[in-house]
Amino acid sequence: MEARGLYHIYREADVETIALRGAALTLEPGTWTSVMGPSGSGKSTLVYVLAGLIEPTGGAVIVDGEDLTRLPPPARARWRRQRVGLVLQRDNLHPLLDVAENIELPLRLEGRGRKQIRARVDQLLDEVGLTDRRGHRGGQLSGGESQRAAIAIALAPQPRVLLADEPTGELDESTAAGVLDLLAALKAAEGASILTVTHNPQVTERADRRFIMRDGEIFDAA
Ligand SMILES: Nc1ncnc2c1ncn2[C@@H]1O[C@H](COP(=O)(O)OP(=O)(O)OP(=O)(O)O)[C@@H](O)[C@H]1O
Ligand SMILES: [Mg+2]
Repeated sequence: MEARGLYHIYREADVETIALRGAALTLEPGTWTSVMGPSGSGKSTLVYVLAGLIEPTGGAVIVDGEDLTRLPPPARARWRRQRVGLVLQRDNLHPLLDVAENIELPLRLEGRGRKQIRARVDQLLDEVGLTDRRGHRGGQLSGGESQRAAIAIALAPQPRVLLADEPTGELDESTAAGVLDLLAALKAAEGASILTVTHNPQVTERADRRFIMRDGEIFDAA
Protein backbone atom coordinates (compact mmCIF):
# COMPACT_ATOMS: atom_id res chain seq x y z
CA MET A 1 0.00 0.00 0.00
CA GLU A 2 1.46 3.29 -1.06
CA ALA A 3 0.27 6.76 -0.10
CA ARG A 4 1.47 9.42 -2.52
CA GLY A 5 1.40 13.13 -1.84
CA LEU A 6 -1.73 13.09 0.30
CA TYR A 7 -3.46 16.37 1.02
CA HIS A 8 -6.50 16.76 3.16
CA ILE A 9 -8.30 19.95 3.99
CA TYR A 10 -11.18 19.99 6.46
CA ARG A 11 -13.63 22.81 5.75
CA GLU A 12 -15.76 23.84 8.71
CA ALA A 13 -17.82 26.98 7.96
CA ASP A 14 -15.12 29.61 7.19
CA VAL A 15 -12.28 27.68 8.79
CA GLU A 16 -9.93 25.53 6.72
CA THR A 17 -7.59 23.09 8.42
CA ILE A 18 -4.89 21.47 6.35
CA ALA A 19 -4.54 18.09 8.09
CA LEU A 20 -2.36 16.39 5.44
CA ARG A 21 0.27 18.28 3.45
CA GLY A 22 1.86 15.94 0.97
CA ALA A 23 2.06 12.92 3.30
CA ALA A 24 3.74 9.93 1.66
CA LEU A 25 4.25 6.43 3.06
CA THR A 26 4.73 2.88 1.79
CA LEU A 27 3.58 -0.12 3.81
CA GLU A 28 5.53 -3.30 3.11
CA PRO A 29 3.95 -6.76 3.41
CA GLY A 30 4.59 -8.50 6.74
CA THR A 31 6.13 -5.34 8.18
CA TRP A 32 5.09 -3.19 11.14
CA THR A 33 5.36 0.51 10.38
CA SER A 34 4.93 3.20 13.01
CA VAL A 35 4.06 6.84 12.47
CA MET A 36 4.57 8.90 15.60
CA GLY A 37 3.49 12.48 15.93
CA PRO A 38 2.00 15.03 18.30
CA SER A 39 -1.70 15.70 18.73
CA GLY A 40 -3.15 17.39 15.66
CA SER A 41 -0.33 16.33 13.32
CA GLY A 42 -2.78 14.45 11.07
CA LYS A 43 -2.36 10.83 12.20
CA SER A 44 -6.05 9.92 12.42
CA THR A 45 -6.75 11.69 9.15
CA LEU A 46 -4.01 9.58 7.52
CA VAL A 47 -5.60 6.37 8.86
CA TYR A 48 -9.08 7.37 7.65
CA VAL A 49 -7.75 8.14 4.17
CA LEU A 50 -5.78 4.86 3.98
CA ALA A 51 -8.87 2.97 5.13
CA GLY A 52 -10.96 4.66 2.44
CA LEU A 53 -13.24 6.23 5.05
CA ILE A 54 -12.60 9.74 3.77
CA GLU A 55 -11.59 10.96 0.34
CA PRO A 56 -8.40 13.01 0.41
CA THR A 57 -8.40 16.47 -1.14
CA GLY A 58 -5.41 15.40 -3.22
CA GLY A 59 -2.96 12.56 -3.75
CA ALA A 60 -3.39 8.82 -4.19
CA VAL A 61 -3.49 5.59 -2.24
CA ILE A 62 -2.20 2.88 -4.53
CA VAL A 63 -2.93 -0.79 -3.83
CA ASP A 64 -2.07 -3.42 -6.44
CA GLY A 65 -1.68 -0.68 -9.02
CA GLU A 66 -5.14 0.74 -8.37
CA ASP A 67 -5.90 4.13 -6.79
CA LEU A 68 -8.26 3.51 -3.90
CA THR A 69 -9.23 7.18 -3.70
CA ARG A 70 -10.65 7.07 -7.24
CA LEU A 71 -12.93 4.08 -6.65
CA PRO A 72 -16.65 4.83 -6.43
CA PRO A 73 -17.89 4.67 -2.81
CA PRO A 74 -19.49 1.18 -3.00
CA ALA A 75 -16.30 -0.35 -4.41
CA ARG A 76 -14.28 1.49 -1.78
CA ALA A 77 -16.52 0.14 0.99
CA ARG A 78 -16.13 -3.39 -0.36
CA TRP A 79 -12.39 -2.93 -0.55
CA ARG A 80 -12.29 -1.73 3.03
CA ARG A 81 -14.38 -4.63 4.29
CA GLN A 82 -12.22 -7.26 2.59
CA ARG A 83 -8.75 -5.81 2.68
CA VAL A 84 -8.39 -3.43 5.61
CA GLY A 85 -8.57 -4.11 9.32
CA LEU A 86 -9.15 -1.05 11.43
CA VAL A 87 -8.47 -0.70 15.16
CA LEU A 88 -9.37 2.57 16.82
CA GLN A 89 -8.51 3.95 20.22
CA ARG A 90 -11.82 2.73 21.69
CA ASP A 91 -15.40 1.70 20.80
CA ASN A 92 -14.36 -1.00 18.35
CA LEU A 93 -16.93 -3.48 19.62
CA HIS A 94 -20.66 -3.55 19.19
CA PRO A 95 -21.71 -3.22 22.86
CA LEU A 96 -24.73 -5.54 22.60
CA LEU A 97 -22.96 -8.40 20.84
CA ASP A 98 -20.65 -10.79 22.63
CA VAL A 99 -17.01 -11.16 21.68
CA ALA A 100 -17.56 -14.12 19.35
CA GLU A 101 -20.50 -12.37 17.62
CA ASN A 102 -18.42 -9.23 17.17
CA ILE A 103 -15.74 -11.25 15.38
CA GLU A 104 -18.37 -13.08 13.32
CA LEU A 105 -20.03 -9.92 12.07
CA PRO A 106 -17.56 -8.91 9.33
CA LEU A 107 -17.42 -12.54 8.16
CA ARG A 108 -21.21 -12.76 7.91
CA LEU A 109 -21.27 -9.53 5.92
CA GLU A 110 -18.94 -11.22 3.49
CA GLY A 111 -21.28 -14.16 3.19
CA ARG A 112 -18.84 -16.80 4.44
CA GLY A 113 -20.24 -20.22 5.31
CA ARG A 114 -21.22 -21.09 8.89
CA LYS A 115 -18.58 -23.77 9.38
CA GLN A 116 -15.83 -21.56 8.03
CA ILE A 117 -16.95 -18.67 10.25
CA ARG A 118 -17.03 -20.87 13.34
CA ALA A 119 -13.49 -22.15 12.68
CA ARG A 120 -12.09 -18.68 12.06
CA VAL A 121 -13.73 -17.24 15.19
CA ASP A 122 -12.34 -20.07 17.34
CA GLN A 123 -8.88 -19.61 15.85
CA LEU A 124 -8.89 -15.84 16.45
CA LEU A 125 -10.23 -16.16 20.01
CA ASP A 126 -7.35 -18.51 20.70
CA GLU A 127 -4.77 -16.23 19.02
CA VAL A 128 -5.84 -13.19 21.05
CA GLY A 129 -6.31 -15.18 24.27
CA LEU A 130 -10.03 -14.52 24.70
CA THR A 131 -11.49 -18.02 24.38
CA ASP A 132 -12.77 -17.88 27.96
CA ARG A 133 -14.35 -14.45 27.31
CA ARG A 134 -16.15 -15.36 24.10
CA GLY A 135 -19.59 -14.93 25.69
CA HIS A 136 -18.87 -11.54 27.26
CA ARG A 137 -20.54 -8.55 25.70
CA GLY A 138 -18.44 -5.64 24.48
CA GLY A 139 -19.27 -3.65 27.61
CA GLN A 140 -18.16 -6.47 29.92
CA LEU A 141 -14.48 -6.47 28.96
CA SER A 142 -11.47 -4.69 30.43
CA GLY A 143 -9.65 -2.12 28.29
CA GLY A 144 -6.93 -4.57 27.30
CA GLU A 145 -9.44 -7.32 26.51
CA SER A 146 -11.46 -4.90 24.39
CA GLN A 147 -8.40 -3.98 22.35
CA ARG A 148 -7.43 -7.63 21.91
CA ALA A 149 -11.00 -8.31 20.74
CA ALA A 150 -10.75 -5.30 18.40
CA ILE A 151 -7.61 -6.79 16.83
CA ALA A 152 -9.39 -10.13 16.35
CA ILE A 153 -12.35 -8.36 14.68
CA ALA A 154 -10.05 -6.37 12.42
CA LEU A 155 -8.12 -9.47 11.39
CA ALA A 156 -11.15 -11.73 10.88
CA PRO A 157 -11.47 -11.29 7.09
CA GLN A 158 -7.68 -11.76 6.70
CA PRO A 159 -6.96 -8.19 5.60
CA ARG A 160 -3.76 -7.31 3.81
CA VAL A 161 -3.33 -4.24 6.01
CA LEU A 162 -4.08 -3.63 9.65
CA LEU A 163 -4.42 0.06 10.47
CA ALA A 164 -4.38 0.93 14.17
CA ASP A 165 -5.01 4.42 15.51
CA GLU A 166 -3.62 4.67 19.07
CA PRO A 167 -4.39 1.00 19.76
CA THR A 168 -3.03 1.34 23.31
CA GLY A 169 -4.39 4.83 23.91
CA GLU A 170 -6.43 4.04 26.97
CA LEU A 171 -4.31 1.24 28.43
CA ASP A 172 -1.77 1.19 31.24
CA GLU A 173 1.81 0.35 30.32
CA SER A 174 1.74 -3.38 31.08
CA THR A 175 -1.65 -3.95 29.43
CA ALA A 176 -0.40 -1.97 26.44
CA ALA A 177 2.68 -4.20 26.28
CA GLY A 178 0.38 -7.25 26.06
CA VAL A 179 -1.52 -5.74 23.13
CA LEU A 180 1.74 -4.85 21.37
CA ASP A 181 3.06 -8.41 21.89
CA LEU A 182 -0.11 -9.62 20.25
CA LEU A 183 0.35 -7.34 17.23
CA ALA A 184 3.92 -8.55 16.83
CA ALA A 185 2.82 -12.20 17.01
CA LEU A 186 -0.04 -11.70 14.57
CA LYS A 187 2.17 -9.93 12.07
CA ALA A 188 3.94 -13.25 11.68
CA ALA A 189 0.89 -15.52 12.02
CA GLU A 190 -1.42 -13.56 9.70
CA GLY A 191 1.18 -12.04 7.38
CA ALA A 192 -0.53 -8.65 7.28
CA SER A 193 1.28 -5.34 7.12
CA ILE A 194 0.61 -3.25 10.19
CA LEU A 195 0.48 0.51 10.54
CA THR A 196 0.22 2.03 14.00
CA VAL A 197 -0.18 5.77 14.43
CA THR A 198 0.52 7.00 17.91
CA HIS A 199 2.12 9.54 20.17
CA ASN A 200 3.32 6.76 22.46
CA PRO A 201 7.03 5.84 22.13
CA GLN A 202 6.21 2.44 23.69
CA VAL A 203 4.29 1.56 20.50
CA THR A 204 6.93 2.91 18.13
CA GLU A 205 9.71 0.88 19.80
CA ARG A 206 8.04 -2.32 18.64
CA ALA A 207 7.79 -1.38 14.97
CA ASP A 208 10.12 -2.49 12.15
CA ARG A 209 10.06 0.91 10.42
CA ARG A 210 9.60 4.28 12.13
CA PHE A 211 8.39 7.59 10.80
CA ILE A 212 7.56 10.94 12.34
CA MET A 213 4.52 12.98 11.43
CA ARG A 214 4.55 16.75 11.77
CA ASP A 215 2.01 19.24 10.41
CA GLY A 216 0.58 16.75 7.94
CA GLU A 217 3.89 15.54 6.56
CA ILE A 218 5.74 12.26 7.17
CA PHE A 219 9.51 12.10 7.73
CA ASP A 220 11.93 9.24 8.21
CA ALA A 221 12.68 8.84 11.92
CA ALA A 222 16.14 7.34 11.39
N1 LIG B 1 -13.74 16.50 11.21
C1 LIG B 1 -12.87 17.51 11.29
N2 LIG B 1 -13.24 18.76 10.94
C2 LIG B 1 -12.37 19.79 11.00
N3 LIG B 1 -11.08 19.68 11.38
C3 LIG B 1 -10.66 18.47 11.74
C4 LIG B 1 -11.52 17.33 11.73
N4 LIG B 1 -10.82 16.25 12.14
C5 LIG B 1 -9.57 16.71 12.42
N5 LIG B 1 -9.46 18.03 12.19
C6 LIG B 1 -8.24 18.85 12.33
O1 LIG B 1 -7.22 18.29 11.51
C7 LIG B 1 -5.97 18.28 12.17
C8 LIG B 1 -5.43 16.86 12.25
O2 LIG B 1 -6.32 16.10 13.04
P1 LIG B 1 -6.08 14.55 13.34
O3 LIG B 1 -7.25 14.07 14.10
O4 LIG B 1 -5.75 13.86 12.07
O5 LIG B 1 -4.78 14.63 14.28
P2 LIG B 1 -4.08 13.49 15.17
O6 LIG B 1 -2.64 13.52 14.84
O7 LIG B 1 -4.82 12.21 15.00
O8 LIG B 1 -4.29 14.05 16.66
P3 LIG B 1 -4.48 13.23 18.04
O9 LIG B 1 -3.12 12.69 18.42
O10 LIG B 1 -4.97 14.27 19.01
O11 LIG B 1 -5.48 12.14 17.81
C9 LIG B 1 -6.22 18.94 13.53
O12 LIG B 1 -5.83 20.29 13.44
C10 LIG B 1 -7.70 18.81 13.73
O13 LIG B 1 -8.20 19.89 14.49
MG1 LIG C 1 -5.90 11.00 16.30
